[in-house]
Amino acid sequence: MALACIILAAGAGTRMKSDLPKPLHEVAGVPMIDHVLRTVEQMDAERCVVVLGAGSERMQQALAGRAETCEQPRQLGTGHACICAKPALTDFSGDVLVTYADVPLITADTLQALVDRHRQEKAAATVLTTEVEDPTGYGRIVRDASGAVAEIVEDADATDQQRSIREINTGIIVFDSEALSEALSELSPDNEQGELYLTDAIGILVARGRRASALKTADPCEVMGINNRVQLAEAERIARDRIREQVMLNGVTLIDPPSTFIDAGVQIGRDTIIGPGCHLLGATTVGERCEIRGHVILRSATIGEEVLLRDHTVIEESAVGDGAQIGPFSLVRGNSSVGAKCKVGSSAEINRSRIAAGTKMQHFSYMGDATVGEGVNIGAGAITCNYDGIDKHPTTIERGAFIGSDTILIAPVTVGESAYTAAGSVISKDVPPGALAIERTGQRTIDDWAERMRRRREREQH
Ligand code: UD1
Ligand code: CA
Repeated sequence: MALACIILAAGAGTRMKSDLPKPLHEVAGVPMIDHVLRTVEQMDAERCVVVLGAGSERMQQALAGRAETCEQPRQLGTGHACICAKPALTDFSGDVLVTYADVPLITADTLQALVDRHRQEKAAATVLTTEVEDPTGYGRIVRDASGAVAEIVEDADATDQQRSIREINTGIIVFDSEALSEALSELSPDNEQGELYLTDAIGILVARGRRASALKTADPCEVMGINNRVQLAEAERIARDRIREQVMLNGVTLIDPPSTFIDAGVQIGRDTIIGPGCHLLGATTVGERCEIRGHVILRSATIGEEVLLRDHTVIEESAVGDGAQIGPFSLVRGNSSVGAKCKVGSSAEINRSRIAAGTKMQHFSYMGDATVGEGVNIGAGAITCNYDGIDKHPTTIERGAFIGSDTILIAPVTVGESAYTAAGSVISKDVPPGALAIERTGQRTIDDWAERMRRRREREQH
């Protein structure tokens, strides 16, 4: 049996009080719509249609062609949203899974279990339900005397007695495609909110003698709908816990799990150890057997194997090769790369630069727009002056060069292979391979200066 998915994402999300469309609010560093798409992608679905409305331009940008879309020009309810998706699925026959962009924690296992139940029971529609302590705001599952699903009643339309029902509609429903079409054509806006409710489809099908079934999931957290920022924060907490648990089960040590933030989609190799207060964000990957000490921030960083990142190091949109060591308190950013077995020490900054393997840069240096060859030694405090106030200029340091401490490299400039620059030199001209460049005034030494100075002060005081 074929499967199609409709993801409803057109609602204005008024309760978020935001200029950003609700599905683009992030949970664990990833927009809610991405969570839902990633989950749906794990299903064996032939088609997937996302219904857009409020903020649809921004939504289209964010989706970047990853799913088919259709427009719901005015948000007239979840049933109306499905009517808008129908033209995209005219040639489709099979099961249609309807899910929401604001239910980010749903898992593929649960969706699959719902589809399986629907098929076993040969139902016209099967609702994913759960029981919650406080059902306020949710549609309630009304069952008949035999326990079969009879209808869903929205909170706003429920009688007091129905309001006391704690089994709620998660919003996720599988329909037989023909049954869905039939029911959609009978929806009416005759309710408190004047909307076409998808939930009414259940009562309509049952009234026609079709069978509605339900799967009750045990974990209400998984199906929580995000309508405001309090719920967003709650989903964030649950998502982060899940990610940490998964990472640990995959063989990564988290010294202090609650203080470790790992975005959805981050990959970490086994036997890597992560200290307290670290953030691994965006499209970050970390290899095996790395040691990441306290308070390291990785933002879309690619870290090789057996890398040591000392405390408070920040790597942004940059790569670090196998066996390299960086930090403490160093910053690598701007699409830089630090080669294998490099040693970058404390308070260094590397920006838009490529540092080849085995180079050392141990103490408070700055490399900007630089290409540094293999086995270079960059002395303490050496920096590139890559910016003249208007333009940025490149610096090239060829393999095996030795940059003396406190060298100032005024770009554009090249230091040739195995060349030396003397400590304290301001280098503004290219240095040929193998040469020494020294740029210093000669040292003047004045004997007995301290004693003479002391005597002068004494005279002045009397
Ligand atoms: C909905 C269900 C409710 C269920 C709850 C679960 C209906 C009528 N109610 O209520 O039974 O318990 O979800 O979280 O279905 N959307 C559109 N177009 C619209 C309206 C909504 O695409 O015209 C989308 C929204 O973007 C959102 C989803 O549908 O992703 C749910 O809409 P929302 O307004 O949040 O419904 P709830 O009131 O939470
Ligand atoms: Ca909702």
